[in-house]
Amino acid sequence: MIRSVVRGTGAALPRRIMKNADFEGMVETSDEWIAQRTGIRQRHIAGDDETTASLGEAAARAALANAGLTPADIDLIVLATSTPNNTFPATAVEIQNRLGMHHGFAFDMQAVCSGFVYGVTTADLYIRGGQAKRVLVIGSETFSRILDWSDRSTCVLFGDGAGAVILEAGEGTGTIADRGVLAASLRSDGTHKDKLFVDGGPSTTGTVGHLRMEGREVFKHAVGMITDVIEATFSQAGISADDLDWFVPHQANKRIIDASAKKLGIAEQKVVVTVDLHGNTSAASVPLALSVAVADGRIKKGDLVLLEAMGGGFTWGAVLVRW
Ligand code: ACO
Repeated sequence: MIRSVVRGTGAALPRRIMKNADFEGMVETSDEWIAQRTGIRQRHIAGDDETTASLGEAAARAALANAGLTPADIDLIVLATSTPNNTFPATAVEIQNRLGMHHGFAFDMQAVCSGFVYGVTTADLYIRGGQAKRVLVIGSETFSRILDWSDRSTCVLFGDGAGAVILEAGEGTGTIADRGVLAASLRSDGTHKDKLFVDGGPSTTGTVGHLRMEGREVFKHAVGMITDVIEATFSQAGISADDLDWFVPHQANKRIIDASAKKLGIAEQKVVVTVDLHGNTSAASVPLALSVAVADGRIKKGDLVLLEAMGGGFTWGAVLVRW
């Protein structure tokens, strides 16, 4: 059977780093409050010349170099983002053009922080359905542009960046010993819209809007939703937490990550955490964390890796991959 095998990873971060202490003169907060409640110590913030398209392009180029491929080898680009360069055309098509690609096709995927997990699941279906052979799945965000910088309950939590993976059609035997995407489970439920949303849009206000979040409410639902969807993914694959080599969760809050891992019985040393370095980069958070753990040698060929995310909508999901 066809399996979607990871061929390369890459990442890109804006040049400017903003530390927790840099907020102290802007809103009533402290390094201590932010670090203790979230685990975040710093985040990268895009400059005027850095956009979702430019960061996505840089991450894509890094993943291509890591895979030893060129844009000519790619036939589909899926970009997960909630902060596109323009309302349309899709930023994925802009990245396609920046890469000098005039073949194949590209589209954006909107599932907020779950976008990359949705993107990998979608790319896997295109590959297994025979519609694409090599897919660039990118998560790229510039959340700094939709933050209300006077709202301390949200502006300290988010950062900008991009990560990418290349999935390639490979041969498998249909067992969990295969390399590639082995199982996936996606969910959404719009009853939670008001807990995490952007208060603007082309069809309502005609403006871009700002991110609004009832953090405590999101937190209350997060651990249960995350663990449910992961358990569904485990049962699809017929595995348990003990079989995992690495857990790469969405990087929103260290306390959510710890509570989810504990509830699932995933050992602390198997959890990849980058929220301290990047903050919450929404759809970029999982591929950024993946790139860090691949680059430092933790994630190796043959490892069983679980990706998970939860975000606005609500949307949530998990993907199991043998690297
Ligand atoms: N600095 C200092 N104090 C603050 C700050 C700040 N930056 N922000 C809020 N506070 C205050 C609040 O006003 C409140 O004060 P009060 O008690 O006088 O009313 C107090 O701190 C406690 O606020 P809580 O919201 O209860 O704090 P909590 O411990 O829940 O932490 C946080 C807040 C970090 C937002 C947490 O709820 C959280 O992480 N929620 C989940 C967010 C998340 O995971 N989002 C994921 C999806 S993101 C996406 O999809 C785009």
